[in-house]
Parts: sequence; C-alpha cells; structure tokens
Amino acid sequence: MIPRRVTILGGTGFVGRALAARLTAHGAAVRAASRQAHMADLPAGVEPFTANVRDTEQVRSAVSGAEAVVYLPGLVQARGAHVFRALHVEAPRQCAELYRRAGGRHFVFVSALGVRRDAPAMADRTKAEGEAAVREVLPEAVVVRPSLVFGVGDHFVTATARMLRTLPVYPLIGGGRTRVQPVHVDDLAHALAALIEHSGAGGQIYEIGGPQIFTLRAMVEMIRAAAETRCWLPALPYPASMLLAAALELLPNPPLIRDQVRLLKTDKIVGGEHSTLRDLGISPHRLEDALPEIVAAALRRTAKTG
Ligand SMILES: NC(=O)c1ccc[n+]([C@@H]2O[C@H](COP(=O)([O-])OP(=O)(O)OC[C@H]3O[C@@H](n4cnc5c(N)ncnc54)[C@H](OP(=O)(O)O)[C@@H]3O)[C@@H](O)[C@H]2O)c1
Repeated sequence: MIPRRVTILGGTGFVGRALAARLTAHGAAVRAASRQAHMADLPAGVEPFTANVRDTEQVRSAVSGAEAVVYLPGLVQARGAHVFRALHVEAPRQCAELYRRAGGRHFVFVSALGVRRDAPAMADRTKAEGEAAVREVLPEAVVVRPSLVFGVGDHFVTATARMLRTLPVYPLIGGGRTRVQPVHVDDLAHALAALIEHSGAGGQIYEIGGPQIFTLRAMVEMIRAAAETRCWLPALPYPASMLLAAALELLPNPPLIRDQVRLLKTDKIVGGEHSTLRDLGISPHRLEDALPEIVAAALRRTAKTG
C-alpha cells in the first residue's frame, strides 16, 4: 500500500510533478516542497509547501508527519563546487538526518546514472558523495539513478527541439558519442511510487533506464526529424567544446558550462550491477512513441511565447 502521507522535496519540478500526480491518484496525501512551491502549477490535490532543503527548520516542517520522503533537488549547472556540494551532499544528508530523528525510515534519494566518486564532472562526483552521505545517515534509504528523463515539458528534448528549430547549427559535444538510455517520466514516477510502496527495497540502488540505448547524436537526429528542421549537427571535439563552454561561462546565464561538457564524457546507461525497472515489473515506454507529442508541445509553447 502507498503510504498515506508523502513529502516530495523538489516536488514542483519535472519529475516531482509526475510523481505527485501518480501518488495522489493512488490516494496519498502529497506535499510538494520547494523554494517557489506556491507559484508552481501542481496536479490537483497536491499540497504546495515552501521550503528550501538547505534550511533546517523548513525541512523539519516539510518532512513532519511524512511516512515517506523523496529527495529530488539536483543541478547540472552551478558556479563553484560548493554549490553542487550544498544541494547534492550537505542538503540530502541533513534531510535524511532530520527525517530519521523524526522517526522516519522511508527515504528515497534521486541521483543519476553515471555518478562515481572519480567521475569527470563535479555534478556526478557530488551526487555519488550524496548517495554515500544519505546511506551513512539512513542505511535503509533507497538510491534511484535515472538516465535522461523524457516526457512533455522535460528538459532535454524540449530545449533541444526549440534550439533545432531556431538555430542553423547545433554542435554535438564530443561528437554526440555519449550513450544514454532515455526513460519516460511516467516510468520513473511508477518506479519511485513502487519503491515508496515496498519497504523491502530498503538499502538498495536502482538504475532506471528505458528500453533502448542511443548515442546523443542519434537522439538529437530523432528530435530534429520530429521538429521537421534541417539544422546542421557538426561534431565538436571535447577540447573545442571546453573552450566554447569556458567562453559561454562569461555570460550571466550561460547555456553551457565546462562541467556539463565533462558530464557527457561518461555514458548514462544501466550497468547491470543493480536493480532495474524489470525488477519492479515495469515495461518502459519507447522514446519514438512519445517524441511527437513532446516536440509538438515544445514548439507550441515556443510559438506562443515567441
Ligand atoms: N530530468 C532528467 O533528465 C534527469 C536525469 C537524471 C537525473 N535526474 C535527477 O532527478 C532529479 C529531479 O530532476 P527534475 O528534472 O525534476 O529537476 P527540476 O525540474 O529542475 O526540479 C528540481 C526541483 O527541485 C527544487 N529545488 C531546487 N533547489 C531547491 C532547494 N534549495 N530547496 C528546495 N527545493 C529545491 C525546484 O524547485 P524550486 O526552484 O522552486 O526550489 C524543483 O522543484 C534531480 O536530482 C536530477 O539530477 C534528472
């Protein structure tokens, strides 16, 4: 049975909203906590709760009474290692600790595929550290590592479709050779809900990928076809990508930073050592089937705002 009260830290983001909708539909009372929760467009019945995961008192209130807590806040862009560490290591450790002290045990930490203590990117290294920190405080915590997540309103497909429609050239970092195993947000939400439901998963790591592995080049080519554009996709080797990102970092809101280039140096695919969607009895959706709807929504919104 799904726990009656669930707090989703970072519950107003892309993954959080899908999870909140699923849990609410199954009868749970869901609290979606984030810094701007009251401005978020949440599924009906979900309680918005304003809390910064870096604020002890706000976290204490957010997790109070929760039978399960999911930690979602994460970054791929930050200025400085301390910002990654704050959100990926210190905050989840403190959230798990406060929840444990309140008597809770059911904690799910959402990490990412490709994380390792010695990964090239700071984003990946700090997530690996965060996994260890949470499990040290709460050994029963479950760690979930998704690959790239797709769905209407997602980050990657939506932004890529818009760029391919507006730019004549879209350089593929490292030649687009990084391998990904994109997973539908509903399949990830299904997995998270199942892990919340079955306390037997305690202490395990789940690697969540879709049914197919693509190179980033293949994925971008599929998005380009769905967006019906002819944008040129030249390969940009890693050294040139690092130079480009270093130059873009001088902008107030850079579209690319060097740590994102480093992120692409490791594949984001299920490794085989840990549990997967199959262990949860979930048959994942294919990217091709969802792509037309995601791209159409992305381009519709661009047309409205542009
Ligand atoms: N999307 C993907 O393709 C993907 C792939 C692999 C792993 N993941 C991981 O999955 C997790 C969720 O991803 P997502 O795509 O849902 O991210 P998202 O859309 O960016 O959502 C992030 C959420 O965290 C909240 N948040 C950020 N900083 C916070 C803070 N200091 N205190 C409280 N809340 C904070 C944001 O709301 P406010 O800004 O209002 O605070 C938002 O609700 C992340 O950890 C991400 O690394 C995602």
